[in-house]
Amino acid sequence: MKFAIIGTGIMGRGWITQCAMTGNEAHCFDSNPETLAGAPAFCSRLGAKMAKRLKVDDPEYVEKLSANIFTYEDKASFMEAAAGCDVFLEVIFEDMQLKRKVLGELLPQLPDKVVFWSNTSSLDIDLMSETGGRPDRSIVTHGMNPVPMMPGVEVVPGRLTSPETVEFTRDLLQKMGKAPFLAPNIPGFWVNRLLVPQMLDAVRLLEQGKITVGDGDLGLNTSLGHPQGTFKLHDFVTAPTMLRVALEMYQASNDPRMYPPLTLLRMVKNGEYGASSGKGFYDWSDPRNPRPRDLSHYVVRAAEDMLEVLS
Ligand SMILES: NC(=O)c1ccc[n+]([C@@H]2O[C@H](COP(=O)([O-])OP(=O)(O)OC[C@H]3O[C@@H](n4cnc5c(N)ncnc54)[C@H](O)[C@@H]3O)[C@@H](O)[C@H]2O)c1
Repeated sequence: MKFAIIGTGIMGRGWITQCAMTGNEAHCFDSNPETLAGAPAFCSRLGAKMAKRLKVDDPEYVEKLSANIFTYEDKASFMEAAAGCDVFLEVIFEDMQLKRKVLGELLPQLPDKVVFWSNTSSLDIDLMSETGGRPDRSIVTHGMNPVPMMPGVEVVPGRLTSPETVEFTRDLLQKMGKAPFLAPNIPGFWVNRLLVPQMLDAVRLLEQGKITVGDGDLGLNTSLGHPQGTFKLHDFVTAPTMLRVALEMYQASNDPRMYPPLTLLRMVKNGEYGASSGKGFYDWSDPRNPRPRDLSHYVVRAAEDMLEVLS
C-alpha cells in the first residue's frame, strides 16, 4: 500500500517508520522544511531500534525501510504523489481550525478512492470530513507514541463513515502489525477521554504543592504499574500538544476538568516542552537518566496564603 503522510513531527515519524517497516510506501510532507529534512534519518534510527527489539535477522532491514520513505519539499509535488496513494494520513498539530483549513484545501484534490485517516487524539472526525469531503472514506486512526512500539490504534468512525472503510482500515492496520480497536466519536474518544483529565489533575495537584514530580510518578509506577507515570508521559507528549489537546477537548465538551492548568501554559511560554526540548517536568540533559525537576516555583500559593490570613 502507499501512504501520503502530512506532518512529520513526533507522531508522523512514528507512522512513517511503521509504514516503511511493514513494506508500505510513505510519501511525506511537512510545512516546516527542517522537520521534513530530519525525518528520514530519525525513522531509520527508530527502525534500527525496532529491528533489535524484534530480533530481526536481516542486515538490509534498515536499508529496505529507508527505501520506502519519500519526502517532498513542495506541496504540489507531494499532492501529485498523494494522488497515487491508497491512504492520506494527516498528522499535523492538534488544532481543529488548522486541520479543517488544510484538509479543505488538500482532500478535494485527491481521487475519490483515497481513504482519509486522521491521527487526531481527540477531535471530531465529522467536522474534518465536512470540509475535506469524502465523509464515507474518512476515519480516525489514533496511534500511540511511539507508534512502532505501541500496538494500540484507536479507530473512530464518523457518522457517515462506511462499513467498508471501517473494515479496510482495521484490516490494513492488522496487516501492519497493529492492534486496532473501535472507539466512540466523542472528545478524546476512549483513551484520552479517560487519560487527559487524569494528566491535567496531576499538574493541578503539582501546582497546588500537593505532590512532586518524582513521588507522583514513582507512586503511579509502583502502585498502578504505569510504566512512565504521568509527568514523564507529559514530557513525551510535550507541553504544547497537551495544551492544544486540553483546549480542544474543553471547547468541545465544556467539561471544566479539561481546562488546562496555568502551569502548562507557563511551561509552553518558557520553552519547557518536555523530552524533545531537554526540559519539562524532568531534566532531560541525560536522556537515559531523566531527573525530576523541582518545580516549586510553579506552585500557586494564593489559596493557602489566604487561608493562613483567615486562621
Ligand atoms: N504527541 C503525542 O504523544 C500524540 C499521541 C497521539 C496522537 N497525537 C496527535 O498527532 C498529531 C500530531 O501531533 P505530534 O505530537 O506529532 O505534533 P508535532 O508538533 O510533533 O508535529 C506536528 C507537525 O505538523 C506540521 N504541520 C503543522 N501545520 C502543517 C501544515 N499546514 N502542513 C504541513 N505540516 C504541518 C508541523 O510542522 C509539525 O512538524 C496531533 O493531532 C496530536 O493530537 C499526538
